[in-house]
Amino acid sequence: MTRWGQQTLVADRPTGPAVRGLADLVTLRLPDGAEVGVRSAASDDLTGVVDLHERCSARSRNRRYHGGSARPAPTRLRRLLEPARGVTLLATPTVSQAPTAPVVAMANLLGEGDLAEVALLVRDDWQRRGLGSALLHRLVWQAEQGGYAALALHIQAENTPMLRTVRRLGPPSAVDRDGSLLTLTVPLTATASPAGAGQP
Ligand SMILES: CC(C)(COP(=O)(O)OP(=O)(O)OC[C@H]1O[C@@H](n2cnc3c(N)ncnc32)[C@H](O)[C@@H]1OP(=O)(O)O)[C@@H](O)C(=O)NCCC(=O)NCCS
Repeated sequence: MTRWGQQTLVADRPTGPAVRGLADLVTLRLPDGAEVGVRSAASDDLTGVVDLHERCSARSRNRRYHGGSARPAPTRLRRLLEPARGVTLLATPTVSQAPTAPVVAMANLLGEGDLAEVALLVRDDWQRRGLGSALLHRLVWQAEQGGYAALALHIQAENTPMLRTVRRLGPPSAVDRDGSLLTLTVPLTATASPAGAGQP
């Protein structure tokens, strides 16, 4: 098992960090053989992302947004889709050209100075299949391409799945605690490959 688990990059045709949507689509094979398409989000993904949140459990939404279990308002999701600095990645279970393909996970990278704030949401029925690790790895690569110095992650102290996922990044340089919320700062070392997956 590598630091990033056993996802395999099946096809990669990125065209640069400025491109959004299907143009930067890559295909990853998860350890159980399922293939997912991963690409940056575009504004017409709102319906798919709203559906993702509706299909997630209240606990997953609460762990992602740290504020109750309600679904975020569409205006907030729309802002997340195309951040001014950073990128939002979406995973779909099959490689589809249609913006209506179901979104099963979302990964956000928001730039704040030289820090890249990272957050993940994997649909409950897709959790524990290596998808969260694969998306985190791609965000690390994106952050390194963007020249960020470190990642910042806000994680509830009880959120064992996310804490285990983040362990793959290596030791944080700082862990701050505000009540039940941990903020981990993880320095970037520019060692990630584009998918990371399946490589020794
Ligand atoms: C955290 C989350 C993104 C992980 O995604 P995932 O696709 O399940 O992650 P993976 O399958 O790649 O597993 C990564 C690690 O988490 C562990 N894990 C996943 N689900 C787990 C669970 N329910 N209980 C314990 N460990 C769990 C895996 O065993 C693995 O650890 P290991 O390599 O030490 O065995 C997902 O659970 C999620 O979306 N949770 C709700 C939102 C959230 O918590 N976001 C984080 C806010 S920053």
